[in-house]
Amino acid sequence: MANVRLEDVSKAFKSAVAVDNLTLTIDEGEFFSLLGPSGCGKTTTLRMIGGFEEPSSGRIWLGDEDVSGLPAHKRDVNTVFQSYALFPHLSVAENVAYGLKRQGVAKDEIGPRVEAMLELVDLEGYGQRRTTQLSGGQQQRVALARALVNRPQVLLLDEPLGALDLKLRKQMQLELKRIQSEVGITFIYVTHDQEEAMTMSDRIAVMSAGRLEQVGAPQDVYELPATSFVASFLGASNLLEGEIEGTSGEVTKVRLGVGGTVTLPAGRLTDSEGPVAVGVRPEKLHIQTTNSSEVDRGDNAIEATVVNSTYTGVSTSYECATSDGTRLVVYVQNLERSASPPGAGAKVRLTWDPDHTFAVSKARPEKT
Ligand SMILES: Nc1ncnc2c1ncn2[C@@H]1O[C@H](COP(=O)(O)OP(=O)(O)OP(=O)(O)O)[C@@H](O)[C@H]1O
Ligand SMILES: [Mg+2]
Repeated sequence: MANVRLEDVSKAFKSAVAVDNLTLTIDEGEFFSLLGPSGCGKTTTLRMIGGFEEPSSGRIWLGDEDVSGLPAHKRDVNTVFQSYALFPHLSVAENVAYGLKRQGVAKDEIGPRVEAMLELVDLEGYGQRRTTQLSGGQQQRVALARALVNRPQVLLLDEPLGALDLKLRKQMQLELKRIQSEVGITFIYVTHDQEEAMTMSDRIAVMSAGRLEQVGAPQDVYELPATSFVASFLGASNLLEGEIEGTSGEVTKVRLGVGGTVTLPAGRLTDSEGPVAVGVRPEKLHIQTTNSSEVDRGDNAIEATVVNSTYTGVSTSYECATSDGTRLVVYVQNLERSASPPGAGAKVRLTWDPDHTFAVSKARPEKT
């Protein structure tokens, strides 16, 4: 069921178009992330959903209600920001109770609801503390409890973990995910951290320059990126330029610029002819020294030279270059101690399963 819907939403500031014709549907109970680099319009999108910013054009729906033009306090939506903005002169419990008091909820109902919220965010027994006596992670959980206590339809979160150190951040990611599935409220989560979005989200909307690049489950956007932007933003893109040779049955053949052909499942390409870029993720590539074993029948293969290798314990990453200078990154899990890993300058053959090949549409022409 659709919970939040954006229809052709744009926002132009004097200096720039922050959000450019965004159409999105977010389902009820979904953990939905807006992911993209700094300045791509994530916060502006969130602020328009929350009612803190008016779209220049387009409509926004919450459930069945068109909320375009409705002020923030009339929308059944709460927001958690990066800066927790707790009231320092109030206790933890008073901070959480604040929204309920303002709503005029009966006094004897407030206590139990605050208690239940503190339990949910793992802060039982902290009610009487001052918020200034809490760690960053604890303060963020108070902010979350405060935003959830009046049971909004939708919770908006704008980089809520940005101020935390990496370890706490990872821990809070799992906490947030647990809390979201416990309360079942729709979460719309803004982050520029692709790993964070992958860890937590049911679906991710990848944005660039105010526009939507791709929407999908974490595996979909990672395994089958639709654009070169998504391919490179979510990891090493490993793109190879080529020309579509043709499709027969379930298989499309692409002639690579560097020479040779590769295949991929038909249907991954939007065009049936012309130039295209195909890609493969680093962990899907196998590296073998050229004089070693034969390529498996049906596998894609390309010749390359190792530029450098980096040993990181669990894995080794190789940067390789094809004869036309295209760079490809390969991750090899160190399952066994390799007697002689290929070093810089080694001639190698990179092979991969055609099913792991994706194709991206060409970069959109810049708007004039
Ligand atoms: N109030 C404003 N007035 C003018 N321009 C604005 C305003 N708010 C945002 N912008 C511009 O709109 C664009 C998108 O900003 P936005 O804050 O939505 O980006 P973001 O994706 O949240 O970035 P970040 O990851 O850095 O928080 C930017 O170019 C920004 O400079
Ligand atoms: Mg922002």
